Amino acid sequence: MSEIINSIYGSHLPELECAMQFLVNEINVLRNKVKEEVGDDPIEHLNYRIKSEQSMREKCRRKGLPETEDTALRIIHDAIGIRVVCAFLNDVYIIREHLVNLSNCKVVEEKDYIKHAKANGYRSYHLVLLVDDNIYVEIQLRTISQDTWAALEHQIHYKKVKTENDALIISELKRCADELASTDISMQTIRDMIRKT
Ligand code: GTP
Ligand code: MG
Repeated sequence: MSEIINSIYGSHLPELECAMQFLVNEINVLRNKVKEEVGDDPIEHLNYRIKSEQSMREKCRRKGLPETEDTALRIIHDAIGIRVVCAFLNDVYIIREHLVNLSNCKVVEEKDYIKHAKANGYRSYHLVLLVDDNIYVEIQLRTISQDTWAALEHQIHYKKVKTENDALIISELKRCADELASTDISMQTIRDMIRKT
């Protein structure tokens, strides 16, 4: 007999969907406004998802938390994840500014891993918003370079290969992250120069 598994999100999936769509829409409205004003699209791409049942349950277990609706919706804050990949560094901060000022959203957590990169070189701007005093949403804002590095680092880490070159791999990854960060600053400077002319 097939077992019926209740969703860890209970009956709240429509609310999650609604909060996610609200923020995606806000981001797209801002995106179009910036495009009209300055002519360039500040966003290279935008991904969003509701964490799958399986990933949410895995995360609960990993954190030693009960696999309940309360954990999934109140304790863990990334049931909804939005990733905004921006062309340039300044675009990240323009979008951040808009999001933190939304009247129906409270900023619950804010981590600027761009100004304060993680020890491994990871860079991104992380925000957790509480929408309508009800739904948590994690938003990651990053540049194309930062996204490329994170994707590659994740892939390497995912395979969990342990080699005698671990220390070298860690320092090389860090070096690549720092080089990309320096390129991001140069690209921003070039764009600023072009816009001034
Ligand atoms: P959670 O309990 O999962 O919220 O962990 P946390 O709050 O300690 O993590 P943080 O907010 O710093 O990062 C959460 C997400 O950012 C991860 O799920 C990844 O998507 C991304 N992230 C953070 N650090 C790294 C990193 O070193 N490499 C990569 N590739 N992604 C990272
Ligand atoms: Mg977190």
